[in-house]
Amino acid sequence: MDPRGLILGIETSCDETAAAVVERGARTLSSVVASQIATHARYGGVVPELASREHLRAIVPVVRAALAQAEIALADLDAIAVTAGPGLAGALLVGITYAKALGFANNLSLIAVNHLEGHIHSVLLHEREAQSAHQGAEQDRSALALVASGGHTHLLLAQPEEGTWHYRLIGRTVDDAAGEAYDKVAKLLGLGYPGGPWIDALALYGNPHAVPFAFSQVKTKAHLAGKTPRTKGAKNAPIAPLDPRFLFSFSGIKTAVLRHVELSGLRAEAQERMERLFPRKGEEKQRIVKPPGTREAALALCSQATLDLAASFQHALVGDLIKKTFAAAESLGAVRIFVTGGVAANRELRLRFREEARLRGVEVSFPTPALSTDNAAMIAAAAWPRLLAREFAPAELSADPSLILG
Ligand code: KG4
Ligand code: ZN
Repeated sequence: MDPRGLILGIETSCDETAAAVVERGARTLSSVVASQIATHARYGGVVPELASREHLRAIVPVVRAALAQAEIALADLDAIAVTAGPGLAGALLVGITYAKALGFANNLSLIAVNHLEGHIHSVLLHEREAQSAHQGAEQDRSALALVASGGHTHLLLAQPEEGTWHYRLIGRTVDDAAGEAYDKVAKLLGLGYPGGPWIDALALYGNPHAVPFAFSQVKTKAHLAGKTPRTKGAKNAPIAPLDPRFLFSFSGIKTAVLRHVELSGLRAEAQERMERLFPRKGEEKQRIVKPPGTREAALALCSQATLDLAASFQHALVGDLIKKTFAAAESLGAVRIFVTGGVAANRELRLRFREEARLRGVEVSFPTPALSTDNAAMIAAAAWPRLLAREFAPAELSADPSLILG
């Protein structure tokens, strides 16, 4: 193997076409992300057929750009890593098919990576980049990881053993994912997509205690009865053996926000805002509108009541993530927590997790905000231990939309 340990990562599981070159799982030489936000914005969520089409358009230029920015030729690579699941079947297939073809044509091995494992490795990659090389081994200690994104909300115990990482599922959502709740609430409030960055920005100017949203403990009875899970967030892993204290449920808060919107007469305001933000109906791509960055801009877009609602929703959701994550850490004796996935980009979440960790004397780490959301550097980083262990993907590798980790 080339001593440089160069891996090209490819990620197409949802609505980002991404490619990156990472050296030895520790140094990002390039990370290119083509977002499809403009395509999906007017639907308030990802449309699978459109996602596959956009990946097909973007995959070749994105991979070329990643190689060019890294100043790397295909011949310099040691392997290609690709997300095999979980995610949208058609979207995953674009990345997998392209990675296979590229590998075959250039005689490069293929490594299959679980998207959730990628999110966990984004924290490790960030830590490695922040530390000097000789501190590297220090990092290989077990951690409890909260992966909170648009498709997943999982608590996983990550444990290194002779260079390979093993995962144990500790908790997960029984319905919507945390990011999905952000996206649905943002849609209800007539804000842009994805909803997380909008609510993150607006919550700064609202009163988080204005509306007392509550999360209760998930009751497992209904799920243990063998009911089919309802949403994309629910279908990726079995619930039965998990401790109910570590189960999440985010579908209720969306209904509570809806009720509040109707009762406080905020619906007309939300509709008018949506039309103002996305006026060009019927056009294929929407213009990209950024969330407001000042109190004046926030108040020009939303009433104080809407800002209070956004702040209260976020306060409750972050509180629930904190409560269950730290309860799981305590019960497992974990003193190191990773928080990753798109929702980990949230400012209030970072502040409050840090504060709670300080009070409890445990460590908490996040990736950079750019590494929190979907990217391919995390896929290339997760593949590095697999390359060392020579764990390659079989020739018949295919997309697994409900691939399980742990
Ligand atoms: O990890 P990611 O890019 O894609 C998935 O694997 O799903 O996560 C995207 C999700 C979206 O639901 C988005 O609203 C949410 O992460 N998100 C945020 C923030 N930035 C992105 N949620 C809260 N606060 C943010 N700043
Ligand atoms: Zn993700």
